[in-house]
Amino acid sequence: MSSTSSTLPWDVQRPRRADDSVFLVTGGNAGIGYFVAEQLSTTGATVVLGSRNPAKAEVAMASIRARVPGARVRAVRLDLADLSSLETAVESLEMDCLDAVVHNAGVALDAPPRKETGDGHELMFGTNHLGHFALTQWLMPLLSAAPTARIVTMGSFAARSERLDLDDLESRKDYQPKRTYGRSKLAQMYFGVELDRRLRAAGSTVASVVVHPGGALDSLTPSRPPVHVRTTGARLGAAPAALLVQGKHAGAWPAVRAVLDPAVRGGQLWGPRVFGLRGEPRSQPVWTHLTDTSVAARLWDASCDLAGVALGTIPG
Ligand SMILES: NC(=O)c1ccc[n+]([C@@H]2O[C@H](COP(=O)([O-])OP(=O)(O)OC[C@H]3O[C@@H](n4cnc5c(N)ncnc54)[C@H](OP(=O)(O)O)[C@@H]3O)[C@@H](O)[C@H]2O)c1
Repeated sequence: MSSTSSTLPWDVQRPRRADDSVFLVTGGNAGIGYFVAEQLSTTGATVVLGSRNPAKAEVAMASIRARVPGARVRAVRLDLADLSSLETAVESLEMDCLDAVVHNAGVALDAPPRKETGDGHELMFGTNHLGHFALTQWLMPLLSAAPTARIVTMGSFAARSERLDLDDLESRKDYQPKRTYGRSKLAQMYFGVELDRRLRAAGSTVASVVVHPGGALDSLTPSRPPVHVRTTGARLGAAPAALLVQGKHAGAWPAVRAVLDPAVRGGQLWGPRVFGLRGEPRSQPVWTHLTDTSVAARLWDASCDLAGVALGTIPG
């Protein structure tokens, strides 16, 4: 695992070409995921929006096509809260090979009550972590078929101050929405780092990279009507926040770079340059608690049990 910065220049406004590549972005119909998809579409790659809502996906695809001449964009129905649907979702991609997936979709609740997915998992842990964990299993044959595929996991700076409770991963005993959200993102980040460790051990050509968007506000995000409309009032009101955080278009930059830049390595953590909250992407030392392999291994085993998948065998 390396934490060194790439010295190659990287222009966030002009990502490198990736004409024959195919990328999947979960939650690509809105927010940061929309901008990841829009920016990846400028490379000539085929970009698939993973979305639980086909109507929203249509609107997002129309917006990308209007802004990116010749964009190759399509959509697949994907509901990460419904674990049993994910195998079918991957089959419906009708692909033999995938060059990268961005595990971006996420749900964040900021008030009680505790909610569950239809599968009976706490909603944020079940969607953000278990959904992507299970999806990875079904995507692995497609990723392994690509020459050098990448799995990019969208973490959060909020997870830096969190610690997992391995005896209460689903917050059944003690539910505090913000903490449960932060822990769900931390679980995703542990997963991303541990996945790369296992891929390397198996001699796989697939790499796993963890990124985070810093702080990314809708009010600092340029309009993409009707996907996202920023009013003048919202823009003016958010101006002071721009000193600290950024828009979702910029929150997309670390993920886009992690997909495209050959200098990015598996096991690395990428996030915004300025205080980890805003600015251009750079690699950052992997947080100390994320390097705890015993926590990562226990989380992995628990996730296999909870998601009902066997992501134990990583193909080489
Ligand atoms: N914004 C920030 O400051 C920030 C900071 C740290 C980390 N992050 C992370 O960045 C990612 C994107 O955040 P965002 O701010 O762009 O959020 P957002 O605007 O709320 O967009 C979330 C996306 O996830 C999708 N989604 C939610 N539940 C889903 C499910 N069950 N199955 C499939 N897709 C689902 C949403 O689909 P619908 O449109 O159908 O709801 C939407 O496309 C998340 O992982 C979040 O945790 C964001």
